[in-house]
Amino acid sequence: MLEENFSLKKYNTFGIDAAARYFSTFSTLEELNELLDVNQPSTFILGGGSNILLTKNIDGLVLKNDILGIEKLKEDDEHVYVKAGAGVNWHELVLHCISNNWGGMENLSLIPGNTGASPMQNIGAYGVEIKDIFFELEAFHLEEKKLVSFNLKDCEFGYRESVFKRKFRNKFVILNVSFRLSKHPVFNTSYGAIEKELEAMGVTELSIRAISQAVVNIRRSKLPDPAVIGNAGSFFKNPEIGSKQFEVLKNDFQNIVGYELPGGNIKLAAGWLIEQCGWKGFRKGDVGCHEKQALVLVNYGNATGGDIYSLSTEIINSVHDKFGVLLEREVNII
Ligand code: FAD
Ligand code: EPU
Repeated sequence: MLEENFSLKKYNTFGIDAAARYFSTFSTLEELNELLDVNQPSTFILGGGSNILLTKNIDGLVLKNDILGIEKLKEDDEHVYVKAGAGVNWHELVLHCISNNWGGMENLSLIPGNTGASPMQNIGAYGVEIKDIFFELEAFHLEEKKLVSFNLKDCEFGYRESVFKRKFRNKFVILNVSFRLSKHPVFNTSYGAIEKELEAMGVTELSIRAISQAVVNIRRSKLPDPAVIGNAGSFFKNPEIGSKQFEVLKNDFQNIVGYELPGGNIKLAAGWLIEQCGWKGFRKGDVGCHEKQALVLVNYGNATGGDIYSLSTEIINSVHDKFGVLLEREVNII
């Protein structure tokens, strides 16, 4: 059913009270096609709303993708190919795969949102990105009204990047995504605090279930639960700089946190840069910078998207003034 002047407050994890001129859910391609006949200046596809900042009302059609279903496509000795509807909750898909002992998604446990948005920014955590397990996806071109398949190469995945975030922004509706998972999982425990957490959990025999639980525990210990405090995860990307610039910074700031990338560039921990500028735990009205993770901006209640955007600009400016490094927003600004 098409709703008019519909509040999106419950449909974005920042909890911003902005409205859609028209709003509807769809759970099949046929329903989507019918809705696209509603003549509107713009169409915005919504998933779980966990990576958007609404800075204004949306004067167009907002369509929430609720296409469900998880299906095993095929298998061979090594791999299982699994297809999930765009509306499937990401963590439910991860749990489904873990319960079947299909490996590859366990490090991506508890990332909020839906499967259909996972290729949008090539979601990643704890040393894994979806590009590592991606097989293909099916998308519908909004203007040309035709189905298009994208393989790994077509998606042009990068760190928090894909063609859907850039050149095809708002052009396609992702309908389903297929993944290639391992029947004989390779455990990936080297990143961050996973090994320490597994030890604290008393795990003696590694399994994808144990790794998933370790990741869940670590995430719960530092990331705010959007059901309690509005947020969209990391607000900024971790910036990449050249090794020379890193050496100069290291002279002035001995404790600066950076990781070497293949090719020699350095990825800096944006959370560290922001914390050094004094923002961690900052609060003004209902807007803030999270007390345990400076990379996460939060809405304590009735902040507007504009309030959060303004704070992000202040943070970008102060990090630039102190370190000469330009932070880029990760969250999609609407
Ligand atoms: P939405 O916010 O609804 O949409 C995001 C963008 O994708 C929008 O531009 C939207 O138009 C587009 N989109 C959504 N669905 C479709 C579709 N079917 N077809 C075409 N376009 C679509 N991200 C990480 O990568 N790693 C993390 O570790 C991580 N941790 C997080 C922790 C918290 C507490 C929170 C709140 C967020 C975190 N995120 C993380 C960000 C977020 O969870 C992911 O970006 C997620 O994939 C967004 O999914 P969504 O369904 O909520 O997308
Ligand atoms: N740090 C600080 N202060 C802070 C926060 C972080 O000094 O307030 C430093 C610490 O040294 C820490 C390092 O930054 O060791 C890295 O922090 P963390 O392990 O929390 O990861 P992150 O780099 O802040 C990234 C992703 C997360 C992902 C985690 C785990 C980005 C932008 N963010 O965060 O993704 O879950 O790694 O892999 O790449 C998201 O995209 O929304 C997201 C939450």
